[in-house]
Amino acid sequence: MPPSMNSILLLTAGLLASQATALAPSTISVDQATEFTLTYGYPLIPYAKWALPVMTTDGTNRLQHKRSLTTADFQDVVRPNVDTLYSAAILDLSHGDLVIDVPNVTDRYWVFPFYDAYGNNYANVGTVGGNKPGKYRIRYVQDSPQQEAGVQLCQASGQSGNCQGYQGYINAPTPYGTFLGRLAVTDEATDLRKVHSIQNQTALYAVPRDDNKAVKYAPKLTVGLLNGSLSSDIPTRIMQMTARLAPYNPPRNISDLRRVQHMFRRAGIHEGKYIPTHKNLTALAAKVTDAVLSHASKPENTLVLGNGWQSRRLSAQGDYGMDYQMRYAVAARGYLALTATEALYPMYYDASNGYSTTLILNPGQAFLFTYDGKPPLTKEGFWSLTGYNSEQYLIANPLDRYALGDRSGLTYSDGSLVYGSDSRNGTFQILVQPADVEPPKNWTSNWLPAPEGGGSFSVTFRLYAPTTSLANGEWTFPTVQRVDAIVA
Ligand SMILES: *[C@@H]1O[C@H](CO)[C@@H](O)[C@H](O)[C@H]1NC(C)=O
Ligand SMILES: *[C@@H]1O[C@H](CO)[C@@H](O)[C@H](O)[C@H]1NC(C)=O
Ligand SMILES: *[C@@H]1O[C@H](CO)[C@@H](O)[C@H](O)[C@H]1NC(C)=O
Ligand SMILES: *[C@@H]1O[C@H](CO)[C@@H](O)[C@H](O)[C@H]1NC(C)=O
Ligand SMILES: *[C@@H]1O[C@H](CO)[C@@H](O)[C@H](O)[C@H]1NC(C)=O
Ligand SMILES: *[C@@H]1O[C@H](CO)[C@@H](O)[C@H](O)[C@H]1NC(C)=O
Ligand SMILES: *[C@@H]1O[C@H](CO)[C@@H](O)[C@H](O)[C@H]1NC(C)=O
Repeated sequence: MPPSMNSILLLTAGLLASQATALAPSTISVDQATEFTLTYGYPLIPYAKWALPVMTTDGTNRLQHKRSLTTADFQDVVRPNVDTLYSAAILDLSHGDLVIDVPNVTDRYWVFPFYDAYGNNYANVGTVGGNKPGKYRIRYVQDSPQQEAGVQLCQASGQSGNCQGYQGYINAPTPYGTFLGRLAVTDEATDLRKVHSIQNQTALYAVPRDDNKAVKYAPKLTVGLLNGSLSSDIPTRIMQMTARLAPYNPPRNISDLRRVQHMFRRAGIHEGKYIPTHKNLTALAAKVTDAVLSHASKPENTLVLGNGWQSRRLSAQGDYGMDYQMRYAVAARGYLALTATEALYPMYYDASNGYSTTLILNPGQAFLFTYDGKPPLTKEGFWSLTGYNSEQYLIANPLDRYALGDRSGLTYSDGSLVYGSDSRNGTFQILVQPADVEPPKNWTSNWLPAPEGGGSFSVTFRLYAPTTSLANGEWTFPTVQRVDAIVA
């Protein structure tokens, strides 16, 4: 073991000793502890899947700008949006701090979100927060748990004299994490250049820690650490990755540290290694998946929005606290979701298919989404309706059209623009119809292609910078009707 590993292990022991919460009961069975660990560690799988391509080309702590909107070829994350350009970085705060230099974005929605190693969206800087341009210092704080994770603005905390010119601090709960900036794109061809220019003015760079503590909080995050010597069996891999990464990446809520560590030990995790004690991990993992699905669909964890639309409980989206089942559910469905203050992600549940989010069309059918008015959003807000195939990726189609919304030239039935220059706010419709069944010309601008030949797919309605009236029942969500395909 290299010497640095020794000091890291010592540090973890110190962290443990300082958290004097009660031990979990020793009556926890190996099965229960293993189920807990499979639930807790699951998000490390999408983390590695997402981080590896970024790290392979750019390493850690470097911004990687996506210069074009996502297309059907993109398969690094499930259910990507086609509304914003992403800027990604895999963050490693183990050996020092980082600074992000935020440009002055005044003409569009933007959000610079930070995620911990388990996909918790613990901090956002952007339009919704009314955050100022300038430098923000990113640092790992869970070694001093009196410091809360999140954004700590210098002005708000009245310590402007003490901020060394920073607008604020981004206090990270784990040394490993992710940055995934989003800048809204309008549909104009000229807009991409403007967004590129904002991306180019954004900087991320390393600085030594404030306190000059030479302590290393974890080994450097490498491709080997995320991908080397791991089982191809997913449940075993979850246990192995948890064993490897969790010792340095504490729980989102540090008060749960002791219980979590106790569970790991019961489950066969010792000194960074998983030694299987359970005979059939496959069966246990299946049980965990069922429990996660049933937890996520409990009434207290869902928000019913009307006309078949539902969202997760708003406080269980993006930042999950100790709700590790919800964290698993969202990671499997839309890894790196934002908190509900930034965006709502309602899904449509089809009563004709057992209230599933899977929609099924015969080749001769379509779904008609009828909006009785425009969704109410805050000034920089925007919305989209995006289709996904059965693998949760974008649906290939001849128009290369993956979403419709306020920036896409939707028309009213008289042919005038829904988002034109007047303030008209009336009924309009979106036609979701197979990619190979072309509707009459006057429908083209309102046609969202479903998979060719019909079949299974699903839609996500995204509402960025939402107003409260969207989620409190004041706004009527669109009705969805199955109809015969509309053809000339
Ligand atoms: C940001 O840009 C706006 C509009 O151009 C300007 O009014 C404002 O002063 C700028 N803010 C900063 C901090 O540069
Ligand atoms: C942004 O930076 C890239 C790479 O350096 C460069 O090719 C591109 O022209 C720049 N775009 C704008 C609009 O500044
Ligand atoms: C991860 O490991 C697998 C299996 O060893 C290998 O095929 C793959 O290329 C690795 N990925 C990266 C990014 O190193
Ligand atoms: C952490 O958990 C404790 C105990 O359940 C709770 O009181 C506290 O509010 C939680 N903190 C956060 C930031 O969620
Ligand atoms: C493990 O459980 C799975 C699923 O229940 C089952 O298909 C498999 O046969 C079991 N394997 C063993 C070795 O018992
Ligand atoms: C449009 O009208 C509906 C009522 O029909 C209302 O709920 C909604 O807030 C309005 N949208 C905007 C953007 O004004
Ligand atoms: C297209 O024209 C038909 C027939 O006039 C009309 O019923 C329908 O609402 C129109 N659709 C759109 C999106 O304009």
